[in-house]
This record gives sequence, C-alpha cells and structure tokens, in this order.
Amino acid sequence: MSDQGFAPPTASYEADPEQVRRVLLLYSGGLDTSVMLKWIQERYGAEVVALSVNLGQPGEDWEVVRGKAIDLGAVDCRVVDAREEFAREYVLRAIRANALYGGGYPLFTALGRPLIAQLAVEHARETGCDTIAHGCTGKGNDQVRIEATVATLAPELKVIAPVRSWAMGRDEEIAYAREHGIPVKGGTEVAPYSIDDNLWGRSSEGRWIEELDHPPEDDVFSLVTRPEEAPDEPEVLRVGFERGVPVALDGERLEPVELLRRCAEIGARHGVGIVDHIEDRIVGLKVRDIYEVPAAAVLLPAHAELERLVCTIHQNQFKGALDRQWAYLVYAGLWWEPLREDLDAYMEHVSEQVTGTIGLKLFKGGVRVVTRDSPNAIYDQALASFAESGGLFSQAASPGFIELWSLQSRMAHRLRQARRG
Ligand code: ARG
Repeated sequence: MSDQGFAPPTASYEADPEQVRRVLLLYSGGLDTSVMLKWIQERYGAEVVALSVNLGQPGEDWEVVRGKAIDLGAVDCRVVDAREEFAREYVLRAIRANALYGGGYPLFTALGRPLIAQLAVEHARETGCDTIAHGCTGKGNDQVRIEATVATLAPELKVIAPVRSWAMGRDEEIAYAREHGIPVKGGTEVAPYSIDDNLWGRSSEGRWIEELDHPPEDDVFSLVTRPEEAPDEPEVLRVGFERGVPVALDGERLEPVELLRRCAEIGARHGVGIVDHIEDRIVGLKVRDIYEVPAAAVLLPAHAELERLVCTIHQNQFKGALDRQWAYLVYAGLWWEPLREDLDAYMEHVSEQVTGTIGLKLFKGGVRVVTRDSPNAIYDQALASFAESGGLFSQAASPGFIELWSLQSRMAHRLRQARRG
C-alpha cells in the first residue's frame, strides 16, 4: 500500500479525499473489491454502500456476495437483477448492429459497463453517497466506460478507482486481506485469470494469455466445451427473428434472457464461440483476451444472414460501416454519445423488415447457416434459377447492362494505360 498519501485529482470528477463521506462501491465479491471495501473505510474514514449487479454471470450466488459485503463492514449491500434490461436494451441492440469489435469481440463487457455505472449512479443518489468506487485498473477500457458514464449522468458525483492508486500488487493484496479477515479463496500460488462475464459472454486475461505464442491451455475454458470433446452428432437450431431481434428457438417463443441462456447452452455444448483475440484498446495498448461467447456465436451469424437476405445490396453495403461505428462507440465507452442513439434509430428502421427464420448447424466448434426463410426475402427462386428464364429478368438485356456498367471503368483504364506509355 502507498503511504505517500493521495495524488492530487487530475479530472473534474475525481474525488477530493477530504470530501469523501459515503461511497457507493461496485462490488463483485472478488479479491480486489473485497480488499477495497475495507480499504475505503480505513483510508477515507468513509461509509461504504455496496452494489452488486446481476447481468447473468453464470454460477454466481448473490446471497453469498451480499453476506460477504456486510461481513466486511458495508452499511448496506444491494443486489440488482438487471438481466432483463441488459438483454433487451443492450444485447438486442448489439444483435441488430451485428456488433463485433475488431472482427471478433461481441462486446459483452463493454455493453454491461454503462448499465452497471448507471445503476451505481441511481443507487448512489438513493443512498446519499457522494462518491462511486470501482475496481477497474488503469490499463483497461472498463475504467473509461464507467467513469465516462458517471461523469455524463451525474456531474455531482465523484469517482475513486483504488486499484489505480493503491500501488498494491497481488501478494500485498493477499497480505492485506489476511490482516483484515477477508477470505481469500483457492490456492494463492497461481494467480487466477482475470475474468469478466455476463449472459452475453466471458473473458479471461492474464497469466500465459499475455504470451502471444502460448496456445490456449484447457483450464481457461469454463463455459464452452472444447471442440474436440463436443458431440459427434451435429445439431440443427432454428432461430426465429422479428424486427431484427431473436424471439424463438425451434419454433418456441422465448423471452430474451431465456433465449440468450439457451443459445449459450447449445453453443457451449457444441464447442462454439471460442475467440482468441488481440485487441486495440482505447488506452493505447494491444492486449490478448480469450473469449467464450457461445450465444453470440450462434445469434450474430444468424442475424447477419437474415439481414442480408431482406435488405438490398445498397442497404447491405451501407450498414456494415454503421455497424462498425456502433461497435466502436460502445467499445470505446461512449454509450451515451448521441451518435449511438442516431445509429440505433437507423438500425431499428432497417430492422422493420428483418423477420424470418435461420437454420444453423452446430458441429464441433463450427456453426454454419443451412436454411433461410423470410416473407421479406428479396429473393425469387424462379429469377435466381439457372434452369428458368423469362419473367422480370431478361438475359437478353444483360449485354447492354454490362456495356454501360463498365463504361467509366473502361475509359479510365484506357487513360491510365496511355499515361503509363
Ligand atoms: N477486453 C475486453 C474489453 O475491453 C474485456 C475486458 C474484460 N474486463 C475485465 N475486467 N477482465 O471490453
């Protein structure tokens, strides 16, 4: 721990230590935020209200988390079940936007942070807190997402980020935990992976993942079956969409949280959704993450396929650029940026026609579209058929089309050749 006292605040929303009376701590129950719960009481002489947010982290026992916070001296610990809002307002929008950052990351963490921070603001106000504390480090995107949200939604609240300032390494944290009666679970010889998860995916960082030439070790996977161990029989899943969002699996209508859970389960069983990703962080670093995203691996390709089928060539070419911009804003912590809402308005409008059913075949780590069905498909089997002729499509008209279509390119090509001699 640093005994040099506190560094002076850099940003307007950073707390002045003298003014910190009551802190809303975003509490996960893990080592960092448990140490923090004690450390804040000790260092600031402040009261701590803990807030834990359920975004569908698999296997979490929220009563245990709550009990732990109270044992460590929190004056109150609230657990908010935000799965429904997360699924509807964040994940379904991401599906409409085909949201993948850097070609592989479906943004589950990035989508969760603005909601978590918004809930922190609401609960801080309700419980009379002046400051919000989080457990993000100074090297990640999550600090940006949380602090940008707090500064946007609640200019009157301040932020502290103890992990950024307390200068404790892992061993010092464990020592601090021991001294303060904080339970440290598991062996302490091997540092655990740094995990973040919710109903849209799970990420692991740290340890050997930092070595770029180190292939994934099996113990990192806790969600997705390794493809080589997946069932020998493929499974076909039919995903029904209405207005750009999934509403049914194999003909059964499901609410979003349940639908996402089942997709994750089916994908995980077939080894689908393992992503080994190098990411350009907004704070400048490139970092490797191992992602397990079985639900996204099933739903994103299905949505993209249906959208391509019902949209024109022009809509399809345009939307990719908007999709990338949407993903970048969300990745970069600017959920509240008006452009994101503007893009969503466009996505919603396009999605009015994105209704239909996509069949996927899942097999040993692979997922492949095998059937498509939509009343809005811009597709006419007779027109597309090699065997048929006539109707709206005249093959006799093709040469005239080709002559005009290639006109400018032909002229320009000739000029270029002439210039080059
Ligand atoms: N690299 C991803 C992102 O920036 C995942 C971060 C996971 N967060 C964590 N605290 N382990 O969104």
